[in-house]
Amino acid sequence: MERSLVLIKPDGVERRLVGQIISIYERKGLNITALKLVKPSREIAETHYVEHKDKPFFSELVTYLTRGMVCAMIIEGPNVIETVRKINGATDPAQAEMGTIRGQFALSKAENIVHASDSPESAEREIKIWFPEAE
Ligand code: CMP
Repeated sequence: MERSLVLIKPDGVERRLVGQIISIYERKGLNITALKLVKPSREIAETHYVEHKDKPFFSELVTYLTRGMVCAMIIEGPNVIETVRKINGATDPAQAEMGTIRGQFALSKAENIVHASDSPESAEREIKIWFPEAE
């Protein structure tokens, strides 16, 4: 079964939206097969976002992800990567449809509440970072 690594980022945890966000994935019929709350180290954040390391916002992105607790999940289901990305909505909340998580809960392109893997290869790479014990 296809897997996705999903993060509820520190703004989502700070705003106590974890339960509401998880229930959106569950209502769709997806399975959460691993879940934990962690305060990521800089090393984890930098490894997770390595593809953005040359972007001007990289340092801001790492500071954001490491400022508080993150809820990390492995979600499984048919076409889970495409399905979760649709549920999350566009990266820029101004472009995200109102029915999506970002459309409902986020205002900023930087602090956009959730992350989800963009391909099966990214999912397997990211799962190893956040759930090394599960491998
Ligand atoms: P995510 O889907 O986790 O992948 C990369 C993250 O970088 C993205 O969500 C945002 O949190 C952040 N991001 C993307 N574009 C910008 C931007 N222009 N300025 C600041 N942060 C950004």
